[in-house]
Amino acid sequence: MSRKRVGVLISGGGSNLQALIDAAAAPDYPAEIVLVISNRADAFGLERAAKAGIATRIIDHKRFPDRESFDRETDSALRDAACEIVCLAGFMRILTPAFVEAWQGRMLNIHPSLLPSFKGLHVQRQALEAGVKIAGCTVHLVTPDLDDGPILEQAAVPVLDGDDESSLSARILEQEHRIYPRALAALAAGRIRLEGRRALTS
Ligand code: GRF
Repeated sequence: MSRKRVGVLISGGGSNLQALIDAAAAPDYPAEIVLVISNRADAFGLERAAKAGIATRIIDHKRFPDRESFDRETDSALRDAACEIVCLAGFMRILTPAFVEAWQGRMLNIHPSLLPSFKGLHVQRQALEAGVKIAGCTVHLVTPDLDDGPILEQAAVPVLDGDDESSLSARILEQEHRIYPRALAALAAGRIRLEGRRALTS
């Protein structure tokens, strides 16, 4: 079985990255993580990658005059490593349309809400403020519109009366770690078929 080569883009703790690394340790997993790129030198996810023997790159967005040049550098790092799929995992930069188009159909994002509800930032807070009783997370293909794009996997969790942002985030994160590896496996194995906005998994 040939495993698809995956580059993961992070900005922080990298617990989703860890879930992908752990899943890819199984011999029959259809993808391998070959590169982790962080835009922040202090991202803990870099240590997780190094511990797993995965190549890392720090591409500090502050060194670039604009988003285009930052994205070009990121794109060439991914291509140099012969990446075939990109996973955004807590990557806190907006990507340019040119970058997104270059990877369209081959780039996934994990978002801590049940899309299309609550796009953007601080979405667990948005969910609490909206008073919803069910929250969750979504893995979707990345398209030029933010937090849009065909949905591969979702998981729901209850919102409890005593919840604050941190307890709700933790409950959602547990589900993120479950669904992200599943979605990547489906994409890497070529089991996703698009019908309009719907991603169907065989
Ligand atoms: C996750 O909640 C993810 O959905 C969001 O950012 C957070 C990253 O967490 N996009 P981690 O770095 O994977 O631990």
